[in-house]
Amino acid sequence: MKILIINGPNLNLLGRREPEIYGNQGFEAFFDTLKKTFPAHNLEYFQSNHEGAIIDKLHEAGFSADGIVLNAGAYTHTSAAIADAVKAIDAPVVEVHISNVFAREAFRHHSFLSPVCAGIVCGFGLQSYRLAVESLLHK
Ligand code: DQA
Repeated sequence: MKILIINGPNLNLLGRREPEIYGNQGFEAFFDTLKKTFPAHNLEYFQSNHEGAIIDKLHEAGFSADGIVLNAGAYTHTSAAIADAVKAIDAPVVEVHISNVFAREAFRHHSFLSPVCAGIVCGFGLQSYRLAVESLLHK
């Protein structure tokens, strides 16, 4: 299966950004391990700090990938445009968060994406991505 992971704003700083919340590991190193966990599948990774670039990537991959894992960062809580893009494409999208957003500030409790996603994984650190990939393999 072809599975694309999309990370949104500030997630390029994983490992350095608020490590008490997001941990000490950069995403690239984690992604290498993740690919080894799923050797039979084609995992790709894209990160952008720009809403439009995330939408472009969803359009580009959304009709050919078998599934998309999306951590839209703070756009989760603000972006009707990314939600519309998720709705527009064929591929199932799993919403992911590293932290347990429901245990944090109230503004993080609302997601524009949850109603249009196949499911949500949050609160398991970087393992949230592995669990999301697993869920797509069993869809
Ligand atoms: C996040 C949670 C969001 O609220 C936050 O804005 C992020 C990261 C997470 O992975 O826990 O940037 O999506």
